[in-house]
Amino acid sequence: MTPPLQRGYNSFVLTIGTVVLPSPCLLAPLAGVSDLPFRTVNRSFGCAFAFAEMISARALVYQNRNTATMLSSLPADKPLGVQLLGNDPEVMKKALEILRNHEFDLLDINAACPVGKVTGRGEGASLLRDSKALAELVRTVVAHSPVPVTLKIRAGWDDTSLNAREVALRTQEAGISGLFLHGRTRAQGYSGRVNYRIIREVKEALDIPVIASGDALSPRLIKKMFDETGCDGVAIARGALGNPWIFREVDPYLRNGTLLPRPEGEEIARTMQTHLDLCIDHYGEGVGTLVFRKFFAWYVRGIADIKVLKEKAFRATTREQMLGIIREAGDTREPVYYSAHYR
Ligand SMILES: Cc1cc2nc3c(=O)[nH]c(=O)nc-3n(C[C@H](O)[C@H](O)[C@H](O)COP(=O)(O)O)c2cc1C
Repeated sequence: MTPPLQRGYNSFVLTIGTVVLPSPCLLAPLAGVSDLPFRTVNRSFGCAFAFAEMISARALVYQNRNTATMLSSLPADKPLGVQLLGNDPEVMKKALEILRNHEFDLLDINAACPVGKVTGRGEGASLLRDSKALAELVRTVVAHSPVPVTLKIRAGWDDTSLNAREVALRTQEAGISGLFLHGRTRAQGYSGRVNYRIIREVKEALDIPVIASGDALSPRLIKKMFDETGCDGVAIARGALGNPWIFREVDPYLRNGTLLPRPEGEEIARTMQTHLDLCIDHYGEGVGTLVFRKFFAWYVRGIADIKVLKEKAFRATTREQMLGIIREAGDTREPVYYSAHYR
């Protein structure tokens, strides 16, 4: 029998439908975060695939939301995934019509979002509560999508309804080309332990690739995900916030256990400046500086005595001000550990 890991990081190719990636690790969907500047920075360190920010099908169809802004991309920003939030097959069909005017490579349906406002409308993780209806929704989307369709789910709604395997089998049959599985329940949100066992069970039951999610916070934890579950790929989410270097580090670690040194202060400051300038190019100086503030806070996580500088960054309104703060942060840096998981 072929050990399941041979389909995963040992091969270093992840194929989802027609999308072929040279790494099994990719950037997870990140609403409010994964704009073009963020994706560009991560791609520059080796990220092979990224999602644009999640789009609500309803908002797209009825509120005429500016998809051009949400989907703005560049030739280098490929391959690109689009994630749709929705529960009504007719609305999803209309949203797909609108999306036909845009270039992207993979379409994901969100059945994982735990936010009350979303689940209250019967969208996101709430779709897990009726796997037959979800499979029907998937069937419609697959029939109308110009690109391969994937589904993002959680382990289940709560501990008493861990139905990821059933949902996965039904939706595989409905035509998805890959499954993203966050190994937590909706009730857990983003805390508590990731259920590696359920990811393994789903992986063993499916023929399509399973891309696992949950606590992919360092190369070591990503390898743990592959080892424990046999998954085909890993989606990196919080591990990439203020830490694009994770994409440079993860493949050598998976290949032969090489742990590259963490970036020095100078490289971090340089990357922050690039990220700030990309934000300013994309949004203009005022909004771009404002948008960059939250990224600054992520980049400097773990530096001792950073509070004052962070407060200063949250008051910065111009490029010059933010650059001064970035320089100061670069100077104060000792050898860096972004999170305890790297130690
Ligand atoms: C700020 C933020 C935004 C997120 N947005 C989305 C989203 O739009 N769609 C989605 O399917 N998951 C979203 N997620 C969930 C992540 O893709 C991922 O599944 C989850 O964070 C677990 O991975 P981690 O423990 O490695 O962070 C988001 C997570 C965070 C932290």
